[in-house]
Amino acid sequence: MSYQKVKGTQDFYNVEAKKFRYIEKEIRQVIANYGFEEVITPIFENTDVFVRTSGDTSDIVTKEMYTFLDKGDRSLTLRPEGTASIARCFLENKLYATPGIKKYFYFGPMFRYERPQAGRYREFNQFGVEIYGESSPYLDCEVILSAYKVFNNLGIKKIKLKINTIGDFESRKQYAIALQNYFKNHLDELCDDCKNRYTKNPMRILDCKVDSKKEVLVNAPKISDFLTIEAKEYFKNVIDTLKYLNIPYEIDPNLVRGLDYYTDTVFEFIIDDDNEFKGLAICAGGRYADMIKNFGGPDIPGVGYAFGVERVMNIMTSENLFPSLNNDLDVLIISLDDESKIAALKLADELRDEGMYVEMDYKNNSLKPQFKLADRLNPQYIIIIGESERQTNTYTVKDVQNKQEIKIAKEKIINFIKEKK
Ligand code: HAM
Repeated sequence: MSYQKVKGTQDFYNVEAKKFRYIEKEIRQVIANYGFEEVITPIFENTDVFVRTSGDTSDIVTKEMYTFLDKGDRSLTLRPEGTASIARCFLENKLYATPGIKKYFYFGPMFRYERPQAGRYREFNQFGVEIYGESSPYLDCEVILSAYKVFNNLGIKKIKLKINTIGDFESRKQYAIALQNYFKNHLDELCDDCKNRYTKNPMRILDCKVDSKKEVLVNAPKISDFLTIEAKEYFKNVIDTLKYLNIPYEIDPNLVRGLDYYTDTVFEFIIDDDNEFKGLAICAGGRYADMIKNFGGPDIPGVGYAFGVERVMNIMTSENLFPSLNNDLDVLIISLDDESKIAALKLADELRDEGMYVEMDYKNNSLKPQFKLADRLNPQYIIIIGESERQTNTYTVKDVQNKQEIKIAKEKIINFIKEKK
């Protein structure tokens, strides 16, 4: 076979495609009760949309974006995440013009040039939410609660909520100075990327995939020692509210997240199961105060998260959490000559209009291959139409499970099966 899928991408077919849609359906159901409206944005954006929001020292911008020039020499990027695109859409379409909090969700593919491994792909799907309009610890908790409800609804229990605050602008300003003072004497222990981050954005060092386990990072100053009174109070309210809502959490003082736009609350739901996915974030997000303002818009804060749909699928498969996703066949119509095939086609159409899943044989006129087909498809009912059935307008209906067979007038068949079902 000369064509193969691109490294880090996946095909979903048969039951895998059903699992994907099952997750989507369940998430949409939970989210509907929170009043989120769907937003569908383009798969690619002007590159600047991501550079200006994710940050030019983030891994996403420096290493992972699929960026290309189009035929008009414009720099475009396949979206690596949804938050920036939704903010661009919110601003461009002046969705802030009407009063009130705005709650949005999105579902779709994202692209990052990462090293493919278990649970990490180059094309993956995110379900995400973004809320604009209020800076409130209660809203942060409602956002976290909605993610928690998604997990509950899907039956996923082996997860851990890690949460932290990275403070407001003033807290981070002081923290950046403290980090630079600290790392000044440890530069030779850092990777080349981190040496660059040291001058441009020292907080990014804490999120480095290469250096993360080194002692020098573990012992680095913690943001909690540099929070302003307001930022401390804000985080205390978040934590108190989580306790009240009975949402288990763990404060992780090293959690800073890999994107530059965050302020105050940041969180990740981590897989806490003893398998190859242990420790991977399955949903992550936080608050961001300045994205809309930095795009040149009004001063409107946001908060949100995104689920990695493939990671949800991975953990649900390994924990056996999917219900049966088979589309059980209601009726198979067996037909014994060409005219009966036309009658079968018509009857199938009428039964499908009543919401039943119906199949028929399009080729064979003898019983043997059609009963073989029945063995394979395992329908609940088999209807047989042949010349004598057509002449008497009475079809044979077999109830496969109860092993019963009766002859019924053609016009009564639909009601008969509907009532039985
Ligand atoms: P993120 O942490 O970069 O945040 O990604 C969110 C989730 O997407 C991750 O927790 C993970 O489940 C999934 N994910 C990320 N990269 C991959 C990958 N290569 N393969 C499979 N799954 C992956 C964001 O994207 C933010 N936009 C979230 C957010 C929304 N913050 C505020 N609002």
